[in-house]
Amino acid sequence: MAIYRHIGLGVFYQVVGIFSIMVFVLKVMDFLTWALLALFSLEHVMGVRNGTQTHEKEVNLQGTGSEDLVTALPGQPNVGFRHYAGYVTVNEKKGRALFYWFYEASTNPDEKPLVLWLNGGPGCSSVGYGATQEIGPFIVDTDGPKLKFNPHSWNREANMLFLESPVGVGFSYSNTTSDYNNLGDEFTANDAYRFLHKWFLKFPSYRRRSFYIAGESYAGKYVPELAEVIYDKNKDSSLFIDLKGFLLGNPETSHAEDWRGMVDYAWSHAVVSDETHKIIRENCNFDSNDTWSNDYCNQAVDEVLKQYKEIDIYSLYTSICIKNSTDSDGKSMEIMFKRTSKMMPRIMGGYNPCLDEYAKAFYNRHDVQKALHVSDGLHLKNWSICNNHIFREWSSSRSSVLPVYKKLISAGLRIWVYSGDTDGRVPVLSTRYSLSALGLPITRAWRPWYHHKQVSGWFQEYKGLTFATFRGAGHSVPVFKPSNSLAFFASFLVGESPPFER
Ligand SMILES: *[C@@H]1O[C@H](CO)[C@@H](O)[C@H](O)[C@H]1NC(C)=O
Ligand SMILES: *[C@@H]1O[C@H](CO)[C@@H](O)[C@H](O)[C@H]1NC(C)=O
Ligand SMILES: *[C@@H]1O[C@H](CO)[C@@H](O)[C@H](O)[C@H]1NC(C)=O
Ligand SMILES: *[C@@H]1O[C@H](CO)[C@@H](O)[C@H](O)[C@H]1NC(C)=O
Ligand SMILES: *[C@@H]1O[C@H](CO)[C@@H](O)[C@H](O)[C@H]1NC(C)=O
Repeated sequence: MAIYRHIGLGVFYQVVGIFSIMVFVLKVMDFLTWALLALFSLEHVMGVRNGTQTHEKEVNLQGTGSEDLVTALPGQPNVGFRHYAGYVTVNEKKGRALFYWFYEASTNPDEKPLVLWLNGGPGCSSVGYGATQEIGPFIVDTDGPKLKFNPHSWNREANMLFLESPVGVGFSYSNTTSDYNNLGDEFTANDAYRFLHKWFLKFPSYRRRSFYIAGESYAGKYVPELAEVIYDKNKDSSLFIDLKGFLLGNPETSHAEDWRGMVDYAWSHAVVSDETHKIIRENCNFDSNDTWSNDYCNQAVDEVLKQYKEIDIYSLYTSICIKNSTDSDGKSMEIMFKRTSKMMPRIMGGYNPCLDEYAKAFYNRHDVQKALHVSDGLHLKNWSICNNHIFREWSSSRSSVLPVYKKLISAGLRIWVYSGDTDGRVPVLSTRYSLSALGLPITRAWRPWYHHKQVSGWFQEYKGLTFATFRGAGHSVPVFKPSNSLAFFASFLVGESPPFER
């Protein structure tokens, strides 16, 4: 529809602007009515004071967000903030709709920034990972069909928006099946951009809010790419989004540096032999576009992957999930199960590798889908945490987003990158090689940062970028270090170095 087009959307916002003035007048009238009522009704005053009534009225008057208010999520712990879930149509002609879940900040949401969180894959769900395993307020629980309250949820510091992106991921879908074969970085960024503008129409009070994007893994591509689209479109003031910066964890960044870091890390962490590493060093040219035409290189890299299939590449020093059934996508895990059938899934270092399975069970429940406005509770959507078809068929991927970093650093955006140092998939070495290739001047040299008087990791500040490690954390850092991550996130939002004195 026309409103997606540049000018069309601008005009639309002008209309919205006029509408806002009308809304303001209505609100003043509403206030007067309220003041009168308040004189007579103590109950009403209580309701208003606890925030629920005034705010819901606001949402009702200004946007359609209140339709998406989640009121009866099965097994949800009691909380004092509101959350919303539902679809936003990003392309009416093709019938594309993206699913979001939005948690207001637990205190003073009106004063806190808005943060969009994206997981990677490509093809994996920000709801299944980010929201319900990492940084959301409700974490899928291992014993029984319920949710556990996460005291380190990032919505303590910001209003948190989780998006399942692109179509085909989680609950997000397209009615045009050929869309699923055309997915790539650019497609994803453009749909996410349309999503944001349509979402602001639902939640107009966030339209001018300070805005950040955060994500991990393949979102290392999504996040800078979306930031770039926003930055470019911001030249039209009617489309302005107050993007302040982005935050990335164990991000895929640059093809060559990522590969080099992965094989060097496997060797330096005793996953493969000196001999295998030597063959890779002498035969693999990761800068070339036909790396895999060299058989020696191929075989040696296969050896790295073979070793990683035996353990959890995302968390080198914890146990893998040993599945009970044969339903699984992970064949190597089944083999593992047969060989060591006495091994049960274990929780180590706060990490439960079976959470993917529990998330799958939870989101395929009819009452859960109904509560989240995904389906009517009868015709269910088939939710999986990662869509392997998307992963395999991804049609275009930028080989490096370092040029985007350069562009957005000179635009003055705040860019922070962190790395869990026990991840083998996008290891800390990959990130260091990438940042080193950027060649930024160092403004604060390598040193520890602390949390609760312990060294939480190390960090280094560059002109325009902060890099930090998380000691002993795997790929999804907040799963391993929830309290440290929240503190780090708070530092990022205020733009101050993480605590570097004990
Ligand atoms: C706040 O309002 C809700 C809904 O009206 C009510 O259920 C709850 O008890 C109130 N809380 C307080 C602390 O008054
Ligand atoms: C997709 O098709 C279904 C069934 O016709 C329809 O209910 C739904 O609204 C469509 N979705 C979009 C985003 O157009
Ligand atoms: C590989 O890169 C070279 C030089 O940049 C280019 O000429 C060639 O077409 C590329 N090949 C493929 C298969 O992309
Ligand atoms: C496997 O079965 C055991 C015991 O029946 C149970 O405790 C565990 O949670 C199951 N694991 C998964 C991944 O379902
Ligand atoms: C859901 O998707 C899985 C594959 O991810 C497939 O095996 C299963 O048959 C699907 N179920 C339904 C009801 O479509």
